Order: sequence, then C-alpha cells, then structure tokens
Amino acid sequence: MIFRQFFDAESSTYTYLMASGQGREAVIIDPVREQLEHYLAAVTALELKLVKAIDTHTHADHITALGALRDRTGCVTLMGEFTKAECVSMSVREGERIDIDGVQLKALYTPGHTDESFSFVLRPERPAAVFTGDVLLIRGTGRTDFQGGDPHKSWDSIVNTLFRLPDDTLVYPAHDYKGWTASSIGEEKRHNPRLAGKDEAAYVDIMRNLNLANPKLMDVAVPANLACGKT
Ligand code: FE2
Repeated sequence: MIFRQFFDAESSTYTYLMASGQGREAVIIDPVREQLEHYLAAVTALELKLVKAIDTHTHADHITALGALRDRTGCVTLMGEFTKAECVSMSVREGERIDIDGVQLKALYTPGHTDESFSFVLRPERPAAVFTGDVLLIRGTGRTDFQGGDPHKSWDSIVNTLFRLPDDTLVYPAHDYKGWTASSIGEEKRHNPRLAGKDEAAYVDIMRNLNLANPKLMDVAVPANLACGKT
C-alpha cells in the first residue's frame, strides 16, 4: 500500500495520500490549497490517478485544496452529509463505506469540533488506522467553541465512537503542533491529558476554559472552504 503524510507548516495541517499500489487510483484526505503542486507531484511520481479528495470537516485555519484538485485531476470531492459546502460532489453518511481501488474507508460521524465532522477508518473489517480530522488530536482534542462545536458531543464522539476501535488502530489527525506524527487509540486512551482518567463533566470543563483566540485565517478560510477553496 502507498501511504504518504504531508505537512503544511503554515497551518500545521497533515494531509494523507493513499492508494493500494503504484499505478492505482488514489484518495487524499484534508489537502491544503497552498500545497497543491506538492500533492500533484507525488501523484505523478507514484503514477497514481487521484479519484477522491476528502475533507473531514470545514476547516477554519487553512483553505482546502478540494476545488483545485477537482479542477486539476477531475477527482470527486467528498465530505460528510452534514457539510454546508454545496460544492462537494459526493457526501457520505455514518457507516458508509468507500472503496478507492482497493483502499477501504468507512465514514464515522464524529461531531464535537464542528457539527459536521466525520472520521474515516482505514480497512474497517480490521481497522488499521483512523483519520480523525480535528476531533481527536495527539495528546489533545480539537476546540469546541465555534462552527457548531460542542464539548459534550466531542466527548461522545471520542469515547463512544473512536475509543471503541481496537487499541492498536493508528490515529492520524488533521493537525499536530508539537511534532507528533501519529498515535494509536490505546495510546490516546492512556495518555491524552484531556481524556485519560477524566469523566465527561471534567472534559467539558477543560474545553470550556481553553480561552483560545480565533484562528487568524478563520474569516477567510470558512467562507472559502464552503466553496471548496475556490475564492
Ligand atoms: Fe478544524
């Protein structure tokens, strides 16, 4: 299997490119518009045909490459069914499976960071990895104070959906700010400081008291991303 993790240093965003092998159809998750040429170079070098581009949610801190990738490759753009981005060409529901030329993904509805966030499980019959967007980060969780975010829903999505995956399922989030590149469900259960040994009330209290500034690109990125990054 081909698996590549890209990093956008400006927004600390991770993007994932996958295909079952060289020369096959490929999928990309959470691409950043500024890195478009980088992704296309990788697709060309690995002789892939990009057929799907997925956003886990409407990002507030960077502009998505979904629209640009669709223009350049003809790929299908995909988000969860509750997205307000009317530009996406395909939406998926909770539990729906997507097959990209042998790469199997299963959509999980995991609201909390936003009200339309989905996660995607790789190889759902025996989970290898989960792309969690911003709902579950490595040793952290995505903020819940805008875009329909809700700390109770975040807790429910993490504890009652993501933490039911096998402990050895790798966790690949949409961001990291400290140099982590991957984690696992078991590792986050044991070591995530917002979750380990906490109950829902304690978690909600933490999330309500983060006092974070808005992302500097938010007023630009959210409207742009509702148009798949076409500004
Ligand atoms: Fe986000």
